[in-house]
Amino acid sequence: HGTSRINDAGHLEIGGCDVTELKAEYGTPLYILDEQLVRQRCREYMDAFKSSGLGFQVAYASKAFSVMAMVRLADEEGLSLDVVSDGELYTALQAGFPAERIHFHGNNKTSEEIEMAIDAGIGCFVVDNLVELNLLQSIASRKEVKVNILLRVTPGVEAHTHEYITTGQTDSKFGFDIGNGSAYEAVKAAVSKKNLVLLGVHSHIGSQIFETDGFQLAVERVASFARSVKEGLEVDFRVVNLGGGFGIRYVEGDTPLHVSEYVTAITDAVKTHFAGIYNALPEIWVEPGRSIVGDAGTTLYTVGTNKDIPGVRKYVAVDGGMTDNPRPALYQSKYEALLANRANEEATETVSIAGKCCESGDMLIWDVELPEAESGDLLAVACTGAYNYSMASNYNRLRRPALVFVQNGHSDLVVRRESYNDLIANDIVPERIAKQAA
Ligand code: LLP
Repeated sequence: HGTSRINDAGHLEIGGCDVTELKAEYGTPLYILDEQLVRQRCREYMDAFKSSGLGFQVAYASKAFSVMAMVRLADEEGLSLDVVSDGELYTALQAGFPAERIHFHGNNKTSEEIEMAIDAGIGCFVVDNLVELNLLQSIASRKEVKVNILLRVTPGVEAHTHEYITTGQTDSKFGFDIGNGSAYEAVKAAVSKKNLVLLGVHSHIGSQIFETDGFQLAVERVASFARSVKEGLEVDFRVVNLGGGFGIRYVEGDTPLHVSEYVTAITDAVKTHFAGIYNALPEIWVEPGRSIVGDAGTTLYTVGTNKDIPGVRKYVAVDGGMTDNPRPALYQSKYEALLANRANEEATETVSIAGKCCESGDMLIWDVELPEAESGDLLAVACTGAYNYSMASNYNRLRRPALVFVQNGHSDLVVRRESYNDLIANDIVPERIAKQAA
């Protein structure tokens, strides 16, 4: 998919770059991002919304993959940006992302984060709870500024891949529940705050969703909430943010829809359910993360050792693992892989891909069909663009890999491989201990 193909040498090529050459230049493990595919996904969202005729913003959920080059790319493509911490905000600001298109999320923003975001002049806070509402009002009032907010509501729809669950009162750490009246009370509280401008509401129903019905139901519930708020409080929502969660294909059997199908389902549902509530339909915002960058990422590893247990299993070990991709260990996520330097060869055995961390749980893939892998071969694991680099760790004191953008036969280093010095940069040995050792 994307610009990936197998070249005449039988090597995997992404963005016109032969991965064996990428290995020679940057080493492994290496994260490779297909820049053209990321841009294509951004454009699919923007185009689908443009043809809906509604006002909109597509905010890239930077938690999926936040580095300065990616933030720049999102800006270039006209997206807005969702940040969830001071670190993501700092990254965005350092990358020169226009503050007015930054939205700040999170269920426990600190006063330092709120001050930083207000000082930067961000476009909107997504307020999660009453403590935050009061804190934000007091900081905004002290600074004598007005800040835009959305209230995060839980519509009682929880979606995951194929199923969605509807619950009366949602047991979730996020947001104000519509069902039990707390969202209604939050609107009342919000409009009473002099320094807060209530733009509307936000709802996020889950992640890696393949169907549209969960989103449609969320729109319906938010619309009926909007109607009761209009009738009871005479408050209009100018903005309705429907969050992210649009699924991607990791392995065979995953059946995501095309980006435009999700967007059309949402905008059609808005046109149906918001009809007649206000003079004009609200602006629709979404926050895709995974579906912008997920399938554009590939992780390239070098194969090292193997362990063949006859009649049981063959383990093939690579030079990374749960440190660069914790998703299999955390969520039992499935991935596909191929031998990237022998991509034309037929699979001859079923093996399991082990990471190099010192624990049994560090397995990247259970049971994948591959040609017989030898030490020095390259293994490419697909669809690692989202929640891989952003969730990477230094467990076992492994250094985080480098990351390159590839396009048109050209590669650009956008994150350099961590150095040994990076690993110890924050370490301090108290003099007391140093003395004792001497
Ligand atoms: N908006 C909100 C409020 C969210 O909580 C999330 C994701 C998104 C947008 C973006 O969702 P996406 O389009 O990427 O599905 N670490 C997990 C995923 C956690 C998602 C958390 N929230 C994983 O690796 O699967």
